[in-house]
Amino acid sequence: MSQHNPKYTGHKELIGTRFCHDQRINQVKQILHTALQEYQQKVTKITPPNPALKQSYDEMIASFIEYRGNKLWFPYIGSGFGNGALVELADGSVKYDFISGVGVHFFGHNHPDILNALVESAISNTIMQGHLQQNVDSLELSSALISASGLDHCLLTTAGALANENALKIAFQKRFPANRILTFNRCFLGRTLATAQITDKASYREGLPSNFFVDYIPFFDEAHPKESTDAAKNALNDIIRRYPNQHALMCFELVQGEGGCYTGSHHFFTSLMEILKANDIAILVDEVQTFGRTDQLFAFQHFNLQSFVDIVTVGKLLQVCATLFTEKYKPRPGLISQTFTSSTSAIKAATVILNKLLNENFFGANGKNAVFHHYFVKQLKNLAERYPKYLSGPFGMGSMIAFTLFDGNEEKSIKFVRRLFDAGVMSFIAGGEKYPTRIRFLLPSGAISFYDLDKVFAVLEETLVAFIQEMEVT
Ligand SMILES: Cc1ncc(COP(=O)(O)O)c(C=O)c1O
Repeated sequence: MSQHNPKYTGHKELIGTRFCHDQRINQVKQILHTALQEYQQKVTKITPPNPALKQSYDEMIASFIEYRGNKLWFPYIGSGFGNGALVELADGSVKYDFISGVGVHFFGHNHPDILNALVESAISNTIMQGHLQQNVDSLELSSALISASGLDHCLLTTAGALANENALKIAFQKRFPANRILTFNRCFLGRTLATAQITDKASYREGLPSNFFVDYIPFFDEAHPKESTDAAKNALNDIIRRYPNQHALMCFELVQGEGGCYTGSHHFFTSLMEILKANDIAILVDEVQTFGRTDQLFAFQHFNLQSFVDIVTVGKLLQVCATLFTEKYKPRPGLISQTFTSSTSAIKAATVILNKLLNENFFGANGKNAVFHHYFVKQLKNLAERYPKYLSGPFGMGSMIAFTLFDGNEEKSIKFVRRLFDAGVMSFIAGGEKYPTRIRFLLPSGAISFYDLDKVFAVLEETLVAFIQEMEVT
């Protein structure tokens, strides 16, 4: 189990610290670890649903759809238990979770190293932390994120979209009265009123009013690096010339996750960032999805953009979201505050997760992210070579991997993802609307082995071959 070296917590004189480390609490943790281990031994492979639970499960799904007033993407209701990349659903089935709650469960389900943090939060005085209720845990996490990122300031929050909202406010305030934003085609920033205006999906903002303007730039094309970089630079220069001093910021997703796992390059990003710097337009890097998933902790570190970034947002696998920013972008008092910045359990877990990421060989050319990426991608490439008429790719970086099926046909891609779900592997789609739909995986690289990748690939291959045959016939 990795050890977190707290900078602020653990002062022996405090009653809170003594309570947390009381012998009886330690015994409880030990008992919980033993019980967890015992039960996890029962969750070791893909298992079909229990027929005895089918009717009640179908009723649960129907009720959930009714309560939500909208359909569920998957018929997924978890039992609350799992073992690494495997998760048990309330119908008794066990599935490989290779979408990990859209990127949240990087360390899988019921990770024993996170258990202690959850026990300590259960005995903590507050369920949530936030404005006027920040415990030393919030200080600890902020300090760790600042030191890992090299940025100057950190504001915690509960959702990726809120981290982006805070980033937008910071940039707008700095550049008042600028009322325009720059971003890329296919971008995703979230679904709040502001972020939905930027996210490049018309259906996500249907019926919503706008209160600022957004200008879109074409993204990098790996097949045409020079041409696509020139096209993006020309588009950026044209827009800045058309609307002088009206842009507060440009939003960058360095690997476009929701868009379909498209990656850029150092040269592409710096070519644009130099223009932005020359025009004093803030550079926001949205790492809500990329954080922890490339061969560096931050994707901006992978692309070597440290000297350019002004504001960075993180979320998902960290469990807590945050807006990090440089001294120049410090907002004036009053602009940003929240009753809840996150739950105590999420904040304590985030510190453990960050520590694990930094100390357990995830990064670098031979780190787990790169090694699992190459292993899985090699198998997918092999499959694409065998079925070139139906499959292209794979695409992506680190634990973000996607491929295109049937030229990105949305209906068939969704059907395939559901088939794969029924066969015991959870993936998801990306892209769509005017772009090709892709099948995507967010590998839980903190919870898998080559054995798991082989098992998942075998199911993927079998399901795909059957699906192609079926589509050929119909
Ligand atoms: C790049 C990016 N930004 C922002 C968000 C929004 O995060 P959340 O769903 O936590 O609000 C997401 C979610 O998928 C994302 O991928």
